[in-house]
Amino acid sequence: MRIALTGSIAFDYLMTFPGHFGEHFIADKLESISLSFLVDKMIKRRGGIGPNIGYTMALLGGTPTLFGTVGQDFGEYRAWLEQNGVDTTAVKVIEDDFTASFFATTDYDNCQIASFYPGAMSHAGEVKLSSWEGEPLDLVVISPTDPQAMIQYVEEAQALNLPYLYDPSQQTVRLSGEELRQGVEGAYALFVNEYEFSLIEKHTGMTGDEIKDHLEIMVVTKGDKGSIVITKDEEFIIQSVTPEKIVDPTGIGDAYRGGFLTGYSFGLDLKLCGEMGALAASYCLETDGPQSHYFTKEAFITRFREHFDDQGKLDILLES
Ligand SMILES: Nc1ncnc2c1ncn2[C@@H]1O[C@H](COP(=O)(O)OP(=O)(O)OP(=O)(O)O)[C@@H](O)[C@H]1O
Ligand SMILES: [Mg+2]
Repeated sequence: MRIALTGSIAFDYLMTFPGHFGEHFIADKLESISLSFLVDKMIKRRGGIGPNIGYTMALLGGTPTLFGTVGQDFGEYRAWLEQNGVDTTAVKVIEDDFTASFFATTDYDNCQIASFYPGAMSHAGEVKLSSWEGEPLDLVVISPTDPQAMIQYVEEAQALNLPYLYDPSQQTVRLSGEELRQGVEGAYALFVNEYEFSLIEKHTGMTGDEIKDHLEIMVVTKGDKGSIVITKDEEFIIQSVTPEKIVDPTGIGDAYRGGFLTGYSFGLDLKLCGEMGALAASYCLETDGPQSHYFTKEAFITRFREHFDDQGKLDILLES
C-alpha cells in the first residue's frame, strides 16, 4: 500500500543560551531593543511532519512517499531519508530558497525565543497529487504544512476520489471553521489530540457525533492516557506504553501516526494499528528529537508482545 505524506519538511536549529533572557530586557528601552545572545550549544535536526511520520513507517517496513517542497540545502536530508526507506521522488527543490527552518534559543529558565522561516514550504501547493506518476496512491495523509497547500490537498484528494487522512494538528488554529469543516467532511480518517478535537468542534460548530458520522476512522490521542480508535461500529481504547525514560516529547504524535499507518498498510486490524502507534510513540519519547529513535522490526515486535497481544499477526512485518 502506497501512502502519500504531505506534511511539512523542515530543519530545526536548536540553541542554548547559558543565562537568563529576562536579565537583558530593559523595561523602558523596549522600543529600541537590540540583543544578540552568544549561544554555547547548537544542534541541527531533521524534522517536519511528513518525514517524521515517514521515518517511523520506514523503520517498520512501510512504504511512505513524501510530497512537498524543499530548498537548496535538502541534499543530505534527502539521501538520509532514501537510505532509510522513505521515497522522496515527489519532493521538489526550490533552488533559490531554503528548506523550512525553525530557529529556537532556549535559556536556563526554559524560556524560548524562536523564529520559523517557511521558505520553500510556501511553495508546497506546486506539488500536486494529480501529477504523481508512480505506483497508484492508496491513501493521502494531509498534515500541517503551508495552510493554502493543506486546503488544496483536501480539494485535490476529493476530486481524485483518493481517501485521505486529515491531520490538521498544529494548523488547526490557522484554518477557518469552514476550511476545517471541508477537511473533516470529505475525510476517510481524522487524527487529532483531545485538545485539537475540541477546537474542531468549536470552530466548525459540529458536535463530536456529527464529526464522527463523516469518518470511517477517527483517532483521538490523549497523551500518557493513551488513545481511542473509533469506527462506525466499534471503539477501541488503546493504552499508552510507559517509556523506559522520558527524554523529549517532540514528534511523538507523528511517531504514533507512523506506527498506526504501517499497521494499516499491512491490513492489520485497527486495534493493533493503535497499539503499534502507542509503542512507536514511546520509542520516540525515549530519544532526543523526532527521528532519533531506532529499532529493528524484530525488536519492535518483541517489545510489542510485552504489552499487547497480537496473536502472531505482527509477523507479517517481517515479510517486507
Ligand atoms: N507520557 C507518555 N507516556 C507514554 N506514551 C505517551 C506519553 N505521551 C504521549 N504518549 C503516546 O503518544 C500518543 C500521542 O500523544 P499526544 O496525545 O500527546 O499527541 P500530540 O499532542 O499530537 O503530540 P505532539 O506534541 O507530537 O503533537 C499517545 O496516544 C500515547 O500513546
Ligand atoms: Mg500532535
